[in-house]
Amino acid sequence: MSNILVTGGAGFIGANFVLDWLRQAGADGIVNVDKLTYAGNRESLAEVEGDVRHVFSQIDICDTAAVSCLLKVHRPRAVLHFAAESHVDRSILAPGQFVQTNIVGTFSLLEAVLAYWQGLDMSAREAFRFLHVSTDEVFGSLGPAEPPFSETSRYQPNSPYSASKAASDHMVRAYHHTYGLPVLITNCSNNYGPFQFPEKLIPLTITNALAGKSLPVYGDGLNVRDWLYVGDHCTAIREILARGRAGETYNVGGWNEKTNIEVVHTLCDLLDELKPKAAGSYRDQIAFVRDRPGHDRRYAINASKLAQELGWTPAETFESGLRKTVQWYLHNEAWVQDVLSGEYRNWMSKQYAA
Ligand code: NAD
Ligand code: TYD
Repeated sequence: MSNILVTGGAGFIGANFVLDWLRQAGADGIVNVDKLTYAGNRESLAEVEGDVRHVFSQIDICDTAAVSCLLKVHRPRAVLHFAAESHVDRSILAPGQFVQTNIVGTFSLLEAVLAYWQGLDMSAREAFRFLHVSTDEVFGSLGPAEPPFSETSRYQPNSPYSASKAASDHMVRAYHHTYGLPVLITNCSNNYGPFQFPEKLIPLTITNALAGKSLPVYGDGLNVRDWLYVGDHCTAIREILARGRAGETYNVGGWNEKTNIEVVHTLCDLLDELKPKAAGSYRDQIAFVRDRPGHDRRYAINASKLAQELGWTPAETFESGLRKTVQWYLHNEAWVQDVLSGEYRNWMSKQYAA
C-alpha cells in the first residue's frame, strides 16, 4: 500500500482531511504526525482509531531526526503540511511559539523531506509532492473596493501569525527554486466546520451561545472574512495534490464575503431555529468588545485559477455549510465538553478578561 504523510492531522483542518481521505475508496494509507498541542485532539480521529491505514505519531515537526525516521520507514509519495500555530489572538499575546512551529518547524520539516526526496529513484522523485497549507492572511488587508487576493498579490502580512506563515511560504518556495523539491502551496480563506477548536469566531459563538455566555464581537463587527466550509477545503487539497503543477501556488476560497456581525447574526438565527431558548433570542447575548490590535479589515480570495485549471468550486453555500456546522456542534456535545476543559479555560479568561 502506498502512503501519504500529513502533519497536524489532529487539528481542525488536518483531522477533517484525514477522515475525508480515508473515506475515499482505495485511499493510500496516512502517517499522521502531530505534536498534540492544545489544538490537537485525538478524539477528532475516533472514526479511524484501529484503522490499519492510519498510523498516528506524536512528534514535533521541529524534530528533523524523528521525521526523517518516519519518512524512511513509511516511504510516503507525498507530504501534506497542515501543522501550525493558527490563532491570530494567541500570536498577539505570545508570538514566540509561532516563530518556532511555523517558521523553524517548516524549515526542519523541509530539511527532512528534501533529504528523503533526494534519496528516491527518478520516477518516485518526479511523482513526489510537498503540499504546504497556508492562508490568505499572508496578503494583508484589503480596502472595501479592492479586488480579492490573487496568486500574484503582494505579501503584506500584518499579524505575528500571518508573518510566520508568510515566512514559511517563502521557505517552501525557496526549496523548490533552489533544490527542485516539487512543492505546491495553497493559500486558503477562513475555514469553518466540524472539529474546530472553539477559540475561533464560529465555534466560539456557537459554544458560548449554548452556554448562555456573551458573544464577543471585536470592534464594530464590520471586518470582513471570506468563509469556506472545511470539507470544500479538503476537496480542493485533494485536487491540487492530484493534478496541481509543481512549483505553483493556488488560492482557495468560498466566494463568501461576510462581515463578522452578519456571521454572528446568522449563527444566532440558526440556533434560535434548531435549539430555541426558553425566552428571547441568542442575539441578545451579543457583546461588542475591545478590538483586536492591528485587526485586518478585509480578506477576500479570487479562486478562479483553481476553478479554471482544476475545475474545483465549493460544494457548500455559506448557509448550507453553516447549518451543517451548527448541527454538528449540537450533536457532538461530548467532543465539545472535552475540549472546553483544561487549557481552554485559561485561554478564555486571559483573552476576554476585560
Ligand atoms: P489547528 O490549530 O486547529 O491545528 C494545528 C495542528 O497542528 C494541531 O493538531 C497541533 O497539535 C499541530 N501542531 C502544532 N504545532 C505542531 C508542531 N510543532 N509539530 C507537530 N504538530 C503541531 O489549525 P487548523 O485551523 O487546522 O489549520 C491547519 C493549517 O491550515 C495551518 O497551517 C493554518 O495556517 C492553515 N489555514 C487555516 C485556516 C483556518 O481558517 N483555520 C485557513 C487557511 C489556512
Ligand atoms: P478568527 O476566527 O480568529 O479568524 P481570523 O482572525 O484568522 O480571521 O476571527 C474571525 C474574525 O472574527 C476576525 O475578524 C476576528 C473576529 N472575532 C471576533 O469578533 N470575536 C472573537 O471572539 C473572535 C475569536 C474573533
